[in-house]
Amino acid sequence: MTYTTLHTSLENGIITITINRPDKLNALNQQVMSDINSVMEEVYKDPAIKSAIITGSGSKAFVAGADISEFTGASVEAGKALAIKGQSIFFKIENCPKPIVACVNGFALGGGCELAMSCHFRIASTNAQFGQPEVNLGLIPGYGGTQRLVQLIGKGRALELLMSAGMINAEKALQYGLVNYVVAAEELLTKAKEILSSINSKAPLAVAGCIKAANAVFDETLNGYEVEIDAFGNCFGTADMQEGTQAFLEKRKANFTGK
Ligand code: COA
Repeated sequence: MTYTTLHTSLENGIITITINRPDKLNALNQQVMSDINSVMEEVYKDPAIKSAIITGSGSKAFVAGADISEFTGASVEAGKALAIKGQSIFFKIENCPKPIVACVNGFALGGGCELAMSCHFRIASTNAQFGQPEVNLGLIPGYGGTQRLVQLIGKGRALELLMSAGMINAEKALQYGLVNYVVAAEELLTKAKEILSSINSKAPLAVAGCIKAANAVFDETLNGYEVEIDAFGNCFGTADMQEGTQAFLEKRKANFTGK
């Protein structure tokens, strides 16, 4: 499919989704949000897509936030509706059964930091900068940022960033555990593809089970241990579990089919 504000390319089962508004530092306007929602539906449904990368176009920004020009004059109800919609799109990323990695290639501010945090993990280029500067605008994050920042870096560090509108660089983000790796900008996609190619060679339903169980840690309506029991048990009903265990015993490489 083609999208107004996204560029996509599919190679070896990995779809690279590039947010493409470089003149506005890839700010998330409603068209971008709607395109992200649609591309996520494609990721969920298309069996040719095994995993995804989300990144920003240009060398300066991943995403510099929600598009501030769309906020002026909006009512309380409109503000709540924006947050509900944004959160539901980012939940779609977080709960996707296929791995999604954010390649943070510059500013990841506000909604950009929230987008990166909704991905399963993050890799940053050396020039990346992270922050939730909403208080500069008389706002707070509305697309899950207050929750996921606390989950990822802890309450004290998160509240300092949220309340001060401060930014942290890639090295600090690595130290905080916000990103898994920091690499040169030109190596960013290569690094993500290397990791995803390895994950794509594993049993897809088992990978999906890992995502579901890990996400359950942060869902107070669920007991994560019970989710794990269920997901673990379900693996025993898959052809891939039979194949994986048999291949180990026969000292050969498993050939997974995702069934
Ligand atoms: N929403 C709308 N437009 C944005 C934007 C955003 N979140 N972030 C950047 N832009 C636009 C700028 O308005 C500018 O557009 P223009 O050329 O038509 O004037 C263009 O992107 C380039 O940004 P500019 O501010 O000129 O770049 P800079 O290098 O001087 O500063 C930032 C970079 C990221 C520090 C600065 O753009 C910024 O602070 N952005 C807003 C960050 C923010 O508050 N995000 C949270 C939103 S809820």
